[in-house]
Amino acid sequence: MARLKVAVLISGRGSNLQALIDACARPEFPAEIRLVISNDPAAAGLARASEAGIVTRVIPHKEFPDRAAFDGAIDQALAEAGIELVCLAGFMRILGEAFVTRWRDRLINIHPSLLPAFKGLHSHERVLAAGVRFTGCTVHFVRPAMDDGPIIVQAAVPVLPGDDAETLAARVLAAEHQAYPLALRWIAEGRVRVREDRVEVSGAGTMLPAAVLNPPG
Ligand code: GRF
Repeated sequence: MARLKVAVLISGRGSNLQALIDACARPEFPAEIRLVISNDPAAAGLARASEAGIVTRVIPHKEFPDRAAFDGAIDQALAEAGIELVCLAGFMRILGEAFVTRWRDRLINIHPSLLPAFKGLHSHERVLAAGVRFTGCTVHFVRPAMDDGPIIVQAAVPVLPGDDAETLAARVLAAEHQAYPLALRWIAEGRVRVREDRVEVSGAGTMLPAAVLNPPG
């Protein structure tokens, strides 16, 4: 069976990119990363892609007069590579409505909280300030509003006494590295449908593995 052609958009460290690279390296995995795009030439994730033999493109947002032109350059790069699904993984630019609409239900993101709670930046600090007992991560289809859209996978982790933003981020990140490949696998297997702006996952085995609900760290 043909593997789903995926692009990953990054701006930084790229640990989620690495989790996706590692998943795609398994022979039976139904997706392949054809392209990694960064808006920042200094993104550490670019080296991870190169090491894995993946084509990289740097498209610096600063070189474009406006968002539409930047989005257009990304769109063109995706089209040239024959990309079928786009994964945002720590991509720190907001994509415009036209781009998001064009890629509707073919564009996914990972956010480090249990959406719709704690949208936006610095979620771990706000989780701690709110005193909630659980947080986690969410993989979702992208809609024009930030951190909004149908939820594909969530993984919960406890907030423990003594946590600071750093320890909590590390615990959530371990969950992210399991949740994102799982969401990609489900999509690539053709099991994910969006109906009335909610995700339905078909087929056996859609229960999350215990490792995702209770990640190490
Ligand atoms: C992750 O926490 C992700 O949820 C958020 O940005 C961070 C990116 O980390 N959107 P990395 O670059 O994948 O290591």
